Amino acid sequence: MLDLLYKRRSIRKFTEQAIEQDKLDRIMQAALLAPSSKSKYPCEFIVIDNKEINEKLSECKPHGASFLKSTPLSIVIAGDIEKSDVWVEDCSIAASYIQIQAEKEGLGSCWIQIRERPHDIQKSSEVFIQECLNMPANIKILAIIALGYKEGEKPGRDATHLKLEKIHKNSY
Ligand SMILES: Cc1cc2nc3c(=O)[nH]c(=O)nc-3n(C[C@H](O)[C@H](O)[C@H](O)COP(=O)(O)O)c2cc1C
Repeated sequence: MLDLLYKRRSIRKFTEQAIEQDKLDRIMQAALLAPSSKSKYPCEFIVIDNKEINEKLSECKPHGASFLKSTPLSIVIAGDIEKSDVWVEDCSIAASYIQIQAEKEGLGSCWIQIRERPHDIQKSSEVFIQECLNMPANIKILAIIALGYKEGEKPGRDATHLKLEKIHKNSY
């Protein structure tokens, strides 16, 4: 597990190779195995392997999402606010599990922040995506995870990356 975590980097350039169904199945199993507060399971996952839709989603915010244009697959991570008041936490854990399992499958991934982000001065990124994907208003959007085969390699981390001073013992 630690090897995977050292290796994982945010990948924003992908080859055109499609993700095999068995790999995607294992990634989604990882998402569905995430813990959930009070076992409410509010998370919803919209898997997008359609190029036109990913191109449209790349316009969801002015910065930090444009690479979705050339991303073979993305997963919109959303949560039902009527099921849980801590859907953000549940969805964040599931999104992390997706990223870790993707690394294990030899794929690259990147988190694209949607919650609290604007599309433009009138519309949130969330509403833009809800409209694109026919989502009801109670299904709120946390993030999109971009997934694909890595175009080139980014170096993994080593122990020099660890900010050990962030660890406090018994008192801050
Ligand atoms: C909550 C969160 C939001 C992020 N939002 C974006 C984003 O909108 N677009 C993007 O390209 N990367 C985004 N990232 C990726 C970060 O930029 C990246 O994790 C950070 O630079 C550290 O690099 P690494 O993931 O390669 O270790 C986000 C990461 C997190 C955890």
